[in-house]
Amino acid sequence: MEYELNHREIPVAVLELASGLGKTIVKNIVSAPNIERLPLGVLTHGSSEIDPIRIGNWIDERSIPKERSGLERIIERLGLPYPNQLLLDSLSLSLYDQYWMRPAGSEIAWRDVNFFQNEFSSDLGDALLGDVEDIEGRTFVSPDASSSGFLPKRWIIRDGKRILMKGGKFPYFQEPQNERVASRVMKLLGIERARYDLEFIRGKAYSLCETFVDSETDFVSAYYIADMFHNMPFDGSKAFDLFLGRCEEKGIRGAREAMDRIFVSDFILFNTDRHFNNFGAIRDAVTLEWKGFSPIFDTGNCLWNEHATEIIRTDTIGDA
Ligand SMILES: Nc1ncnc2c1ncn2[C@@H]1O[C@H](COP(=O)(O)OP(=O)(O)OP(=O)(O)O)[C@@H](O)[C@H]1O
Ligand SMILES: [Mg+2]
Repeated sequence: MEYELNHREIPVAVLELASGLGKTIVKNIVSAPNIERLPLGVLTHGSSEIDPIRIGNWIDERSIPKERSGLERIIERLGLPYPNQLLLDSLSLSLYDQYWMRPAGSEIAWRDVNFFQNEFSSDLGDALLGDVEDIEGRTFVSPDASSSGFLPKRWIIRDGKRILMKGGKFPYFQEPQNERVASRVMKLLGIERARYDLEFIRGKAYSLCETFVDSETDFVSAYYIADMFHNMPFDGSKAFDLFLGRCEEKGIRGAREAMDRIFVSDFILFNTDRHFNNFGAIRDAVTLEWKGFSPIFDTGNCLWNEHATEIIRTDTIGDA
């Protein structure tokens, strides 16, 4: 089936996708009318041709990871051929960028469907957090279909704001509290960060974080800025220099200072989860100009979240 990939109102590419497979297979690039608006990292390196494997991976990275808690049950109950069908049914819209896909030839308009300006179903979020048992007959058109990361999570709308609600992981479920603490610590240090609040629902802790993107901006993770690690050295400091070089090539200013802020706060908070999908930059989705780095987010894996209190002692810190 053919899908048109768009960036806001602008058509970017038409792709023929093979359906019913555990992985997105792009069988054919039918057309690419605006290659400058393609997602970063999908061209064959050094050329202006779309690489079908890279763009297929980009679609897969956009959908809920198979390992997300609660997902397998939903897929099974709905009889979906593969998790990415949820993404396609939600037009691949997200609350972190302005890409989306519609069946080729469809008249659906971005202004009528994007989740920044339009409401969305809460059914998928309810199901993912285990709040509903009977999922038949529900509509799953939701930004939850395009949410990455392993922790249980859902998007909600509160007072018109789009907010990501994240739970913790077994056995200590400490991550939401940690995100709140980390958010407070960074505020005290004067470091720009996404604000996390804390809420308890039926005894379970959740962190709440408003999207740092609006309908005119994109968040692009470092993974794509680094060109999906094309020729990325394994040596961490060389990879870091290469990443800074890629930021410079692309005109993303202030990368070194932003990375310094990330490293300092991660060091102070003992954050152990700073991978390339946990930081990135913000781009103007209208002009394509880079606006700078995103505020620091995803800081729940800190303060010894996976360790029992009794082993968190200064003499064991080296092993933690
Ligand atoms: N406040 C936000 N505004 C916009 N996008 C966000 C926000 N918070 C998270 N995201 C997007 O959602 C993704 C998943 O969120 P997050 O990294 O917090 O989840 P996670 O489950 O803790 O991830 P991980 O698997 O890295 O532990 C992020 O990589 C980012 O693309
Ligand atoms: Mg993350």
